[in-house]
Parts: sequence; C-alpha cells; structure tokens
Amino acid sequence: MIRLLSYIYPITKKVESKYSGTLEITWHNGKKHLNTKNANYSYGSLQKILKFGLQKIDLSNCKDILILGLGGGSVIDTLVKDFEYENHITAIEIDPVIIEIAKEEFNLSENKNLKIICADAYDFINQNKDLFDLVIVDLFIDNLVPHKFYVPFFWEDITNSNSINGSILFNASLNNANYKYLINIVSHLEKNNYQTQKLEKVNGTNTLLIAERSRL
Ligand SMILES: C[S@@+](CC[C@H](N)C(=O)[O-])C[C@H]1O[C@@H](n2cnc3c(N)ncnc32)[C@H](O)[C@@H]1O
Repeated sequence: MIRLLSYIYPITKKVESKYSGTLEITWHNGKKHLNTKNANYSYGSLQKILKFGLQKIDLSNCKDILILGLGGGSVIDTLVKDFEYENHITAIEIDPVIIEIAKEEFNLSENKNLKIICADAYDFINQNKDLFDLVIVDLFIDNLVPHKFYVPFFWEDITNSNSINGSILFNASLNNANYKYLINIVSHLEKNNYQTQKLEKVNGTNTLLIAERSRL
C-alpha cells in the first residue's frame, strides 16, 4: 500500500541518529531510499554511483569484500543482484541506528556470507589482520567524508588490508573539493603498485577513485 501511495506523493519516516542527525527513510515512486538532510545515503543515486564504479572492477576472483560504511546496504544489493556475487562480505558501520535500519527497513540479514560489525572504520582498519580482495570505502557523515579518511595513515592501513591482487573503490567526495588529499592518496597507491583511475562527476556529483593492484 505504502509503495503504491508513494507514486502519488513521497512518504517519509524520520529517525534520529547521534552521528548523522535526522535520517529519512523515504518511499518515492515505489522505491525506498535512506537520506540525511543533505545527502542520499543508500539506494537512489548513491547506489547508481557505486554500481558505475563496480562495473570498472574485475570481480571474478573476489572471494572477500570489505565495505566501510554499510548505510542501508544498497551496495550489497547491487553486488548480489547485479553482479551475482556469492562470496563473503564484511561490512563496517559506526552507527547502531543505521545497522538497525538496514536490517528492519532494507531486509539485510547477517548470514554465513555477510558479517556486520558496529565499529569505527578507522579503528577497524588499523587493527585488521585479514586480507580482502576488494575494499569499498563509502564513509560519509551527511554529505562529507570525515577528514581522518583522507590522511596517509588510513591509506597505509587500507593497502595493508588489500590482497596482493586486490582492488579499492573509494567514494571520495560529493564534489572535487578534496582534490589536494586525493593527489596524496593516489601517490601512495601508485607507490604500492596500484593502477588508479579517478572518475569525476559520476551521476553528476561524486568523485570515485578506483585502484587495482598490478599483478606482479
Ligand atoms: C553513504 S552511507 C554508506 C552507504 C552504503 N555503502 C550503501 O551502499 O548503502 C555512509 C555511511 O558511512 C557511515 N560512517 C561514517 N563514518 C563512519 C566511521 N567512522 N566508521 C564507520 N562508518 C561510518 C555512516 O554512518 C553511513 O552509514
């Protein structure tokens, strides 16, 4: 019923989060999205942007994917439905309210292939000893990537967590304002045998950075 009504007018439920302010779960034209005041967190344009990035990455040998920033889990939906990905995913999310929304509103459930960890991605990646074939970095508070995710320490830990032939997909910003930080990140990745591609204005807005470790 809500789905049908949403073709006539959008229907929104609001939930407070101590990290992201007021979260909006909105039905619009038969689809449910997760938004903040100034950004689309899950499904909608965010899902299209990450799908565009994933199309540029070879997922055929991926056995373990790490997602930093679970949100409502739309990239998991894309991996499973559009790319028929059937292997392991570990998702890190700082906000317990968002994890609850992902489970209750977007039907995400933990199972043998999906592990959800409530943690700060910065601390998780600093302490992590496991290797992942693809790391998706999609960390926003409202429409900004927190500054700590642009610093070299974080990127050293990311490259340490990436398998020898691994890839990285970084949803780097909603515009190109953080260009100076991206230059340093690209330089660190290239020194560590990654080939990088910067895609600007994906879906008219976001900058994506894709890095693939060159086969040795
Ligand atoms: C754009 S949403 C992620 C969307 C998700 N990848 C998807 O496909 O639906 C950004 C997420 O990053 C999370 N986040 C922000 N800072 C974080 C941090 N320090 N550690 C872990 N998660 C964080 C936010 O709570 C939010 O859920």
